[in-house]
Amino acid sequence: MSTAGFETLAVHAGQEPDPRTGAVVAPISLATTYAQASVGEHLGFEYSRSGNPTRATHEACLATLEGAAAGLAFASGLAAENAVLHLLAPGDHLVIPTDAYGGTFRLIDRVHGRGGVTHSAVDLADLVAVEEAWRPSTRMVWVETPSNPLLNIVDIAAVAEVAQRHGGLVVVDNTFATPYLQKPLALGADLVVHSTTKYLGGHSDVVGGFVAAADAGRAEEVAFFQNALGGVPSPFDCFLVLRGIKTLPLRMDRHNANAAAVVAALESHPAVTRVLYPGRDDHPGHAVAARQMSGFGGMVSFVVAGGEPAALEVARSTEVFTLAESLGAVESLIEHPHRMTHASVAGSALAVDPGLVRLSVGVESEADLIADLVLALDRVR
Ligand SMILES: Cc1ncc(COP(=O)(O)O)c(C=O)c1O
Repeated sequence: MSTAGFETLAVHAGQEPDPRTGAVVAPISLATTYAQASVGEHLGFEYSRSGNPTRATHEACLATLEGAAAGLAFASGLAAENAVLHLLAPGDHLVIPTDAYGGTFRLIDRVHGRGGVTHSAVDLADLVAVEEAWRPSTRMVWVETPSNPLLNIVDIAAVAEVAQRHGGLVVVDNTFATPYLQKPLALGADLVVHSTTKYLGGHSDVVGGFVAAADAGRAEEVAFFQNALGGVPSPFDCFLVLRGIKTLPLRMDRHNANAAAVVAALESHPAVTRVLYPGRDDHPGHAVAARQMSGFGGMVSFVVAGGEPAALEVARSTEVFTLAESLGAVESLIEHPHRMTHASVAGSALAVDPGLVRLSVGVESEADLIADLVLALDRVR
């Protein structure tokens, strides 16, 4: 099965018809505990925080899609990131990007920072800066590409080369691209993290996270923290992510196409001063994105001429695009990063332009999406 195409794996990987009933969909297994024939003699499951059949199916499926040795599911993207960051000990240092999801920065800075882990924020597109930031205590580089909300691109293979030379781990947040568009482990990363809340779930109805590991030993280390910290997803949440993944390739193709059409419309509108999208020829990371991704994704950010008041007006004026946090689902969303998703980085090196608007372009009709945006932008021209 692992030589099958991505679309086939998305539907079938890790999943067999249920041997007892023939059910073609993995059952939602709610039991919290499992019978043992004698002490320690069981069918692979003991207690549902440590392992659950629905979760195991989800983990096998997504690990296969990422080309990983093993994968581990979590209750949220941040729970997944927290388990990975526990690989670091007090006194360890990590290199982080100058642009990342605000919650990731908060977790590194205000939670693991309190525990004695230090960090430097660096433009990861600048490999000299990455080298210069490296200290004897540096153990990890955290990559997010494309990044949230600026859609910056990092050359995963190039950063992995630097990290490998210094014996550090490379973690890639693959939430925006998904394994359908980008495979970080094949480019030299050690760990992939996901907010499965986004494209993998795909329908704004489940919060979840995932870690995929290139190496089985590393997966074991993360599995220890999955169990010890306890941030595991419910069986029903695992089922929802598994179901979402089955249509991931179909949805991503549509997200790619709709985002490209939206970008073209934004470029020609006088109220827009800058469009951030890695599919644009003039995007600084375009060549790298074209090389390491098979599509540019559904996320688009832009800056409006009138600054924050205009950005807020656009965000509240659309109708097909719903004003809401989150991203990666079938419905189109619009948000204002400075006040919403990235409020937690205000005043830090990761603070974002108050005139920035972020779109998660959904799978609706292209013409409706464009008409909706143009109408909202006309109000601030
Ligand atoms: C790129 C990225 N990584 C991680 C997260 C955190 O995931 P969650 O909200 O599922 O905890 C988010 C959430 O928006 C995100 O956008």
